[in-house]
Amino acid sequence: RHGSTLPPRSSAFATATKEHVEHLKSLLSSPNGVMSTLDGSASTDDLQPFNDDWMNKYHGKSQIVVKPKTTQEVAEILKYCNGQGLAVVPQGGNTGLVGGSNPVYDEIILNLGNMSAIRSFDEVSGILQCDAGCILETVDNYLAEKGFIFPLDLGAKGSCQVGGNVATNAGGLRLLRYGSLHGTVLGLEVVLPDGTIYDSMGGLRKDNTGFDLKQLFIGSEGTIGIITGVSILAPKRPTAMNVAVFSLSSYEAVQKVFNETKAGLGEILSAFEFFDKQAYELVKRHIKEGGEADRKVFETEGEFYVLVETGGSNNDHDEEKLQNLLEKLMEDELILDGVLAQDQTQFHSLWKLRELIPESAGKAGSVYKYDLSVPVPKMYSLVEKMRTRLGDAGLWKEGGGGRIREVVGYGHIGDGNLHINICADKYDDEIEKVIEPYVYEIVAEERGSISAEHGLGVMKAPYIGYSKSPTSIELMKQVKKMFDPKGILNPYKYVVV
Ligand code: FAD
Ligand code: MLT
Ligand code: ZN
Repeated sequence: RHGSTLPPRSSAFATATKEHVEHLKSLLSSPNGVMSTLDGSASTDDLQPFNDDWMNKYHGKSQIVVKPKTTQEVAEILKYCNGQGLAVVPQGGNTGLVGGSNPVYDEIILNLGNMSAIRSFDEVSGILQCDAGCILETVDNYLAEKGFIFPLDLGAKGSCQVGGNVATNAGGLRLLRYGSLHGTVLGLEVVLPDGTIYDSMGGLRKDNTGFDLKQLFIGSEGTIGIITGVSILAPKRPTAMNVAVFSLSSYEAVQKVFNETKAGLGEILSAFEFFDKQAYELVKRHIKEGGEADRKVFETEGEFYVLVETGGSNNDHDEEKLQNLLEKLMEDELILDGVLAQDQTQFHSLWKLRELIPESAGKAGSVYKYDLSVPVPKMYSLVEKMRTRLGDAGLWKEGGGGRIREVVGYGHIGDGNLHINICADKYDDEIEKVIEPYVYEIVAEERGSISAEHGLGVMKAPYIGYSKSPTSIELMKQVKKMFDPKGILNPYKYVVV
């Protein structure tokens, strides 16, 4: 489902035929790189994982998946599709949360999964060059062996691709420390809709000669070009990493703890995440359902939780700082309880309390996901407003029993980025109309962003005006038209021209 605001299939696009499939096969070094129901080389079931999204909310009807192995092949495919008027959806790991990586109708899926080579790594500068289809976790493991870290981390690291990360300008769990991809990406290789290859992989740290064109592709969600190569600056991996999780009684306390943590930990702070007790309960239930023994993490549980990570170079020094912080926060009665990881296993199990929220919410129902930027003091009031709104509509009841099973709030406090997940019995228009555009209206009241890090995709394309001015939207449309005059790349999404 794509909501009631979806434009109809454009008659400007051709409908793919068996002949198109034959031609696409002839462009690739291996005919196995094309899967299609049109020539019987694949069944509808084979194509389903490419047509459906991670949340099972969006379902495309593509009959062709193309998996090129080289940049040249991507160029040949796009040149051909552009000439034939065939629409194309670029797809990475298909972990996107706004329906951007799936076809809306019958667009051809161009999946980057077969382009997964690390091209080079320079241990002096820390510059990594890789194919766009590299899995984030694989690249990070490669860098770990060399004492470096990928400057982005997120819960989907085992499936998402570096190209997809750049295309969505993903933020993740350590943006607070390493900054946005707009700063760390040094160069890109991109195939434009007509097959032209834009190559800025040289990756200089300083380069003020003209417009910084690569920036346009970072966060462009596959609408103006297909990223095939990424050059990125990897920092040294901290040799000492630690994590603590605190329970707290109020959102006021979360903000005070954030301030104290920045002051107490200084340069070693690498993540500051928060989640509410509803999110924590979902994770506990999910872990239990997965067969793990129920373990007591906190002596005193709270209304809220924060996760603090440190990354430094001296374990004793960092541990002392974290321990001092914990003691001060207890003394000042800002936290109810705190747990410090004692070893690697605990480090990972504490992180799981935060990282498993999306998966746990998915287990609790069909999830309406909102990814918002608002000033930190206002963040949690949006979750409360949403509960009131759903309660008034008779959809949600405190303690359960309504069509909405749970409303949870969590996110990246350090970045002013709130996630609201509304777990429903199913996706339908009745629920969606109560939530949207209300959620965007309350964000606009705070002059916030309706898409902090997940992107617009098909989900938020109609609502861009809540965050961007008419002038900005007009300029974006002109950019789209300049790169993609026929509109073949990821149509119906992002900024609809
Ligand atoms: P896909 O989902 O395949 O594609 C996403 C978009 O990028 C689509 O519009 C697609 O057309 C386009 N695209 C993909 N590859 C290319 C390419 N090579 N060239 C051009 N366009 C391309 N996001 C965050 O920002 N922070 C998080 O903390 C975070 N955590 C997540 C946790 C989970 C469990 C999940 C499921 C998702 C999470 N996400 C998060 C959302 C998602 O944006 C990221 O997982 C990731 O950046 C998407 O990468 P992907 O390879 O899966 O891209
Ligand atoms: C997260 O912070 O966990 C991600 O952005 C994913 C999500 O919100 O579902
Ligand atoms: Zn997030």
